[in-house]
Amino acid sequence: MSGVKVAFIGAGGNASGHMKRVKEVCDETEIVAICDIDAERAEKATEEFGGAPYTDYHQMLDKVGMDALYVSVPPFAHTDAEIIAAEKGIHLFVEKPVALTMEKGLEVSAAIEKAGVISCVGYQLRYAESVRRAKKWLDGKTVAMVNTHRWGGVPGTAWWCVMSKSGGQIVEQTTHQVDLIRYLCGEITEVQANYALRHSYENKGFDIPDVMATTFKLASGAVGVLTSSCAMINGGGKGELEIMADHCVLKWGTTSVSAVPGEHPDLAGELPPLPPIDPVFIEAVRKGDGSSILSPYLEGLKSLDVTLAMNKSGETGKPERTYFADN
Ligand SMILES: NC(=O)c1ccc[n+]([C@@H]2O[C@H](COP(=O)([O-])OP(=O)(O)OC[C@H]3O[C@@H](n4cnc5c(N)ncnc54)[C@H](O)[C@@H]3O)[C@@H](O)[C@H]2O)c1
Repeated sequence: MSGVKVAFIGAGGNASGHMKRVKEVCDETEIVAICDIDAERAEKATEEFGGAPYTDYHQMLDKVGMDALYVSVPPFAHTDAEIIAAEKGIHLFVEKPVALTMEKGLEVSAAIEKAGVISCVGYQLRYAESVRRAKKWLDGKTVAMVNTHRWGGVPGTAWWCVMSKSGGQIVEQTTHQVDLIRYLCGEITEVQANYALRHSYENKGFDIPDVMATTFKLASGAVGVLTSSCAMINGGGKGELEIMADHCVLKWGTTSVSAVPGEHPDLAGELPPLPPIDPVFIEAVRKGDGSSILSPYLEGLKSLDVTLAMNKSGETGKPERTYFADN
């Protein structure tokens, strides 16, 4: 395949970044259709990036020939699009979180596997050079403990602060940290969470916790702590990941990676900017070979699993095992 035909479901803030990169950094790629339930958004996006506008993706999937589909809708809006596309042999880029329930995610995962289509989830941090170095550094070491936090503010999208629509911050945002822990340290099998809402917010319908403190166990026997907050609405937030292994601590940030104590030449050297994920996906589609994709759908589903278990534990006040720990 030379030219790759791409369509989009969702034309919001995140999708427009993907559209821009598809146009600018992916060779011989054409955007053939863009669907958004907001007709104005669909129109505006097609004017800028090309393709035909749609407000109903069933119609779009029925009428438009495409090689690949991006699904970038709010978490609650993942219903049947991925399944219909997979059954048609269309390769899938799905934004995180891949769904809001394990049932839906497992259904989509089975459809992808059955159809044999290529899938990629927007966990772009997996592609960072800092993560590549961290993974290499960790290879063969005994991970003892993980410590991470993501403290930030409240994004502007209305659905984000409604639990039934976003799943809350851990499912929607801190999933990036959870995914990195899994990618670098292996599977998380059990979680214990404490959630609270400690401030009031002006956003209508705000019903998610704004502080979340969780501990977890990994399959390897290591233990970890994750704290997450969206209370830093005036700035000053921070996000870090520390991994204790072989009596050293690896310190990872999006633009830095180091370890103490001692010399660690594998981690040294200037880091390039975070590479775009889109060319990796589009090239995989062009070649019909998904082996370069570090974040296939099943990996996205496993990260969702951990974050949903955290939410459940936040509700029950008890330790919760992840679905994949027992299945
Ligand atoms: N990988 C990342 O770092 C990253 C960054 C930002 C957002 N995201 C993810 O991207 C997704 C979208 O986030 P966003 O910030 O663009 O939200 P957004 O609200 O700006 O855009 C979502 C769009 O989807 C549309 N939509 C909803 N239901 C639809 C349907 N059934 N059919 C067609 N369109 C529909 C909405 O009208 C809206 O335009 C979320 O899952 C979010 O977590 C990922």
